[in-house]
Amino acid sequence: EGAGGGGEEYLFKIVVIGDSAVGKSNLLSRFARDEFDLHSKATIGVEFQTQVMDIDGKEIKAQVWDTAGQERFRAVTSAYYRGAVGALIVYDITRRSTFVSVKRWLDELNIHCDTTTAKMLVGNKSDLENIRDISVDEGKRLAEEEGLFFIETSALDSRNVKEAFQIVVQEVY
Ligand code: GTP
Ligand code: MG
Repeated sequence: EGAGGGGEEYLFKIVVIGDSAVGKSNLLSRFARDEFDLHSKATIGVEFQTQVMDIDGKEIKAQVWDTAGQERFRAVTSAYYRGAVGALIVYDITRRSTFVSVKRWLDELNIHCDTTTAKMLVGNKSDLENIRDISVDEGKRLAEEEGLFFIETSALDSRNVKEAFQIVVQEVY
């Protein structure tokens, strides 16, 4: 949680993980730039964006890291996780396989980060209620079992996107 240059400045690294096409990059672009891309390409390597947040009147810089869900496009794993104080583990509420994968992502996270890392389970694409495959209760249950915060989001209609990041940063702060 390296403090920045000025007295009241904080820089928090947050990583976003989860299977390909769950919407990680769109959650980040919605959060940082209020943008959404219906035809976004799969991420290759690592990207990050810094977003200034106001938490209890303090200026917090959230440096959010986004990587490829696809194994073949991923960069060096240990570097990706290094120094992360928060993590969003994302699945797609319309695709069960992405929910099943959460355990695998958590295993990787736990290898590279310590137990103090604030973790949020994120069920994305909540706008697709008509083709939902994972109920809210099922998501909540997994979060409880694994000791994670839980939220459902939509990068498309913006629902809960800011909140997801805010809760994690608040917890770290
Ligand atoms: P990788 O980079 O391959 O790991 O994928 P990703 O997790 O970054 O997914 P990405 O953000 O590129 O989104 C994949 C697809 O899902 C794109 O077509 C997006 O437009 C769509 N998508 C992302 N978020 C939402 C959402 O909340 N609702 C809906 N309906 N579609 C979404
Ligand atoms: Mg991506």
